[in-house]
Amino acid sequence: MLNMSENKVVHYLKDYQAPDFAVADINLTFSLEDAYATVLNRMTVVPRQADKPCVLDGSAELLQIVLNGKSLCPHEYAVADEKLIIHAVPDSEFVLEITTKLYPAQNKTLMGLYESGDNLYTQNEPEGFRKITYYFDRPDVMSQFTTTIIGDKQRYPVMLSNGNLIDSGELDNGRHWVCWRDPFAKPSYLFALVAGQLAVLEGSFTTRSGKEVALKFYTRPEDRAKAGFALESLKHAMQWDEDRFNLEYDLNIFMVVAVSDFNMGAMENKGLNIFNTKYVLASSDTATDADFEAIEGVIGHEYFHNWTGNRVTCRDWFQLSLKEGLTVFRDQEFSADRASRAVRRIHNVRVLRSMQFAEDAGPMAHPVRPASYEEMNNFYTLTVYEKGAEVVRMYHTLLGEAGFQKGMQLYFQRHDGQAVTCDDFRAAMADANGVNLEQFALWYSQAGTPQIKAHGEYDAGNRTFSLHLQQYIPPTPDMADKQPMVIPVKVGLLGRDGTSVVFRLADTDAVVEETVLVFNQAQQTFVFHDVAQEVVPSLLRGFSAPVRLDYPYSDADLMLLLAHDSDSFARWEAAQTLYRRAVAANVVALEANQPAPHHAELAEAITAALNADIDPAYKAVLLQVPTEAELWEDAQSINPELYVRARQALLQDLAASMEDTLTHWRTWADTQEQNSKHAAPQEYHPDLAGVRSLRNILLQWGVQASAQVLQTIASEYTQRATNMTHEFGMLSAINHLSDDKRDELLNQFAQRHAHDDLVMDKYFVLIGSSQRADTLQQVQAALQHPAFSLENPNKVRSLLGSFSRNIQHFHAADGSGYRFIAEHILRIDGFNPQVASRLVQAFNLYGRLEPQRKALMAEQLQRIQQHEGLSKDSREIVDKILRD
Ligand code: TRP
Ligand code: ZN
Repeated sequence: MLNMSENKVVHYLKDYQAPDFAVADINLTFSLEDAYATVLNRMTVVPRQADKPCVLDGSAELLQIVLNGKSLCPHEYAVADEKLIIHAVPDSEFVLEITTKLYPAQNKTLMGLYESGDNLYTQNEPEGFRKITYYFDRPDVMSQFTTTIIGDKQRYPVMLSNGNLIDSGELDNGRHWVCWRDPFAKPSYLFALVAGQLAVLEGSFTTRSGKEVALKFYTRPEDRAKAGFALESLKHAMQWDEDRFNLEYDLNIFMVVAVSDFNMGAMENKGLNIFNTKYVLASSDTATDADFEAIEGVIGHEYFHNWTGNRVTCRDWFQLSLKEGLTVFRDQEFSADRASRAVRRIHNVRVLRSMQFAEDAGPMAHPVRPASYEEMNNFYTLTVYEKGAEVVRMYHTLLGEAGFQKGMQLYFQRHDGQAVTCDDFRAAMADANGVNLEQFALWYSQAGTPQIKAHGEYDAGNRTFSLHLQQYIPPTPDMADKQPMVIPVKVGLLGRDGTSVVFRLADTDAVVEETVLVFNQAQQTFVFHDVAQEVVPSLLRGFSAPVRLDYPYSDADLMLLLAHDSDSFARWEAAQTLYRRAVAANVVALEANQPAPHHAELAEAITAALNADIDPAYKAVLLQVPTEAELWEDAQSINPELYVRARQALLQDLAASMEDTLTHWRTWADTQEQNSKHAAPQEYHPDLAGVRSLRNILLQWGVQASAQVLQTIASEYTQRATNMTHEFGMLSAINHLSDDKRDELLNQFAQRHAHDDLVMDKYFVLIGSSQRADTLQQVQAALQHPAFSLENPNKVRSLLGSFSRNIQHFHAADGSGYRFIAEHILRIDGFNPQVASRLVQAFNLYGRLEPQRKALMAEQLQRIQQHEGLSKDSREIVDKILRD
């Protein structure tokens, strides 16, 4: 049922109906002309029930419809609201031929078929295919695609589609043609086409059964040399999926195409992945270590979709997390198995807590499997991806690696070649392990971050430690009352001397030092027996569930955990909690117009942690103070600026107390790099990346401690700037200083890299995220920079996206930040709704702001809401925010 009030169409999960038609095969013929393309879509349609009208999705210019060889007259069909309705079709198999005309150069939405540079690319997930032709554009209609492409040889020497190249030939007038066939049935969202002048970097991979797969990376000719790391990453990913998941690649060719105009990160089209250049191209003088790691992760992610997404796909878009949550879990595990498991986990948790928790506490809150949507593009969210991955990780935590893999095996056995639901995945996990996962389903249907209140006591007489847990799931706009969920809580116990204390759980004889409690009631007490001494519990180890957990630790308890916990997440979390408490104390002081207090003990504890014998990359994450969003959590009536100042005051205070330690370790990091055993220490390597990340965060702290650090940076700049991690690290450290030297170095940077699109993105990020007083003016000036373009999503994200996350300036007390972003949302919304509506979500904090900012924000939100012709993408978001 569609809800048509207010001119809105809301889609509900509960209304799902199986398709009325199947498509036995589909043949597409693209003729690429100078200013347009025509598409002939010839499909064999099989009615699954008699007497149903044939309703196809589509919005392209329609040239002709032919049914079983007979051209249809206008009265035999109707076109309205992106649908084509053919009133009468045969009861049995028929052939439908539909011709459409497209204008890719004018398509700035970057969905469907569009032009970038002089080349053509497609993006069809979730509903782009309907911009190309008329079709059953839903993931549960799967068909075999054969694609012919005809184009000018000069302009389109390379013409690609999914599957294998089965034929090609020459035509008159300098034209040629190719024919691709994908033997695997797939939904329309996985269809892809690329045409243009592209260079190719080739490699190969031999699968475990001995099949040789050709690997081809297509880029602009000048970028070809920068695709090598991505190619190596792909080989690692293919190997890893065989080793860990027993999954082998299924075609003889795997292609990756890099494009600079792209709405998201990358897309897993069958056999023909299309990537944002950001996640393919890298060299150590233009990409940071973090960029290299992101490339490896995204290459893995898209490759892993071949099984989790393509071979087994989603029944409908409500099930998006079936493929995305699972595939994010897989790419996280891939990265963790490659290097630095502990630091990767912490990084993922930090993203989840600072961004997904915020989403879950705001107007867009939705379950991992949303119950409804207006615009599907709005549901490619942190909740579906990152919380979805945590949900998959909880199966893994509850069932163990072996049990989880048994579940995966059964999932593929049952569903290969099908379009299925999150319940099917859960059933495979349950059935393969003979366990009941009924209650676990709530993780898919209840939004909001569960909160656990915990406390515990030691009973010396009985030698027991009792842990009392209470769970509460806050109401979200979609649901007020919630059921208790299954929460795996991984726990260990530490003695006062920091050693691990063993225990025994009731009903077993096993003495252990760690356990996973299955916490599945509103409140529950867990008793640990044979506990030899007073203990401090180490809770939620490895971040075993996506929840907030509050335990009444003393500061001394937390310092004990920070010094000794064997679990790297819990140890890091102890530092995070100490930072949070310190900032909270600063907030109280600043609110009362008092100076922020001095945190001597915390400085000592962090100093000790820095001096401990631990991995440099891990030291670097210990120095990460929680982001503002993590600090205000779900507070109300927020004054964002207060948190910026309170956080800043803590950094300054700690850095001042720790100046010598900071300098010591910075010098140490330098010698590590200089004396590295690696032949090319400037190149990406996980060990050196760890050292550099430590050095860079020490620089950031160092700048707080002493003005001398700016001088050091200025004098070393040119020599170090041959490596982008150093160059960007130095610029980030001084980016907030009002000293002229900062502008000078930034301008130098922009000039030197003026012709490198991806490096210029970094320049725009620096401009947009600076805390300097003149940031808004600098952002405005940057809009005029020749390298900037509102039509390029990477540019918008770099400059405007980073400004919208710049707490201090976006939330400027005079409303200038809100006004500026609203203005640009409206400009972008006219041609790329998907990018615009992302930016609208910068306003998500609306309902929780202090009254003055809230009023200023309301003005801008209403201005967006009232804008004539606003896209349904942006409308869905702005309506939800204003309802708050
Ligand atoms: N499925 C893609 C991924 O997660 C992402 C994706 C969804 C996408 N919709 C998109 C990419 C639109 C670009 C444009 O890997
Ligand atoms: Zn994905």
